[in-house]
Amino acid sequence: MQALIGGLLEYSRAGVDESSRRPFELETSRDLALVNLRGSLAESGAVVEREALPVVVGDSVQLAQVLQNLIANALKFRRPEAAVLIRISAEQRGNEGVVSVADNGIGVDPQYAERIFMIFQRLHTRAEYPGTGIGLSICKKVIERNGGRIWVEPTQGGGSTFRFTVPLAPSGGR
Ligand SMILES: Nc1ncnc2c1ncn2[C@@H]1O[C@H](COP(=O)(O)OP(=O)(O)OP(=O)(O)O)[C@@H](O)[C@H]1O
Ligand SMILES: [Mg+2]
Repeated sequence: MQALIGGLLEYSRAGVDESSRRPFELETSRDLALVNLRGSLAESGAVVEREALPVVVGDSVQLAQVLQNLIANALKFRRPEAAVLIRISAEQRGNEGVVSVADNGIGVDPQYAERIFMIFQRLHTRAEYPGTGIGLSICKKVIERNGGRIWVEPTQGGGSTFRFTVPLAPSGGR
């Protein structure tokens, strides 16, 4: 119940504060997300590959929250028989950055690719995987309020790759 109420509060706050949009290094948000998850990262023995990320425009705290939700999902929806591998990378497309968080986990059936971004939509029971089904809906709200899009694709060789777009800082990144 506490997780549910906390999640709902976070969902209702996500993306409302226009004044906190400014240029920042997305690597700072990524590192904050990784620090917040250091306990579960160490416990799972996950390998996290970090590639260079651009300078973007948005709310750095909310972008950290997005990355944290995606990385936490990559840890949670792992395949029991495989060591967790997470790759965080970005590429430039015009004046946007496309940021990817790729995992080698259980994957998302393409028919549910849109549904999982809706609030309370989960593909498993809480007995199988704990959670409230709010994380991705927060990601979607934050990214869309920031002028971006978020979607999921299969990872080559198994797993899922979540991608989102974010405006690049006017200087063209770094
Ligand atoms: N990396 C992933 N691999 C496989 N399935 C995923 C992944 N991320 C999300 N999903 C699926 O999408 C559903 C919705 O994800 P979401 O993060 O919104 O909820 P949750 O993780 O179940 O709960 P919460 O984030 O509130 O703790 C998940 O329950 C799961 O079925
Ligand atoms: Mg989640």
